[in-house]
Amino acid sequence: MKLKIAAALAVASLATTAVAESHAGSGDVAAGEKEFNKCKSCHMIVADDGTEIVKGGRTGPNLYGIIGRKAGSVEGFNYGDSLVAAGEKGLVWDEASFVAYVQDPAAFLKEYTGDSGARSKMSFKLRKGMEDVYSYLVSVGPQS
Ligand code: HEC
Repeated sequence: MKLKIAAALAVASLATTAVAESHAGSGDVAAGEKEFNKCKSCHMIVADDGTEIVKGGRTGPNLYGIIGRKAGSVEGFNYGDSLVAAGEKGLVWDEASFVAYVQDPAAFLKEYTGDSGARSKMSFKLRKGMEDVYSYLVSVGPQS
């Protein structure tokens, strides 16, 4: 009897871990934090209560809580039309879309919106470590 309960508990905790991991993504948070140095000239991470997690530039929107958020929806930021159109079409940042976008924002928006003339105001392209940055952003976001 004792053994059965232990086994059931083990299964339950495994299941919880799997859910947590799928949300946090497959990347390495510490590596992602370093990689974020490439982003902070344009992006800050500032919590809703004003806590500065990363001081950064204003060329791009605040990336606090960006994962799970509708694309192009940070209040007060002046987005390009294509990113707003993608959000209106249903784009919500998850690991797959984030990884694809940061590698080549303009190409991603062309594909997602189906508009070959789609443009991106973000010209930067990340070549490696996209999953790490994703996991880092989840880790400093509101849901973690
Ligand atoms: C040279 C400035 C610059 C750099 C560097 C940069 N970005 Fe951006 N980013 C922007 C701008 C500008 C936008 C708004 C794009 C638009 O409106 O088309 C943006 C938008 C985004 C968005 C979409 C936000 C939303 O609200 O939907 C994400 C996600 C993002 N950037 C992630 C990153 C990450 C991660 C890095 C570092 C690997 C990075 N960016 C580096 C300028 C930059």
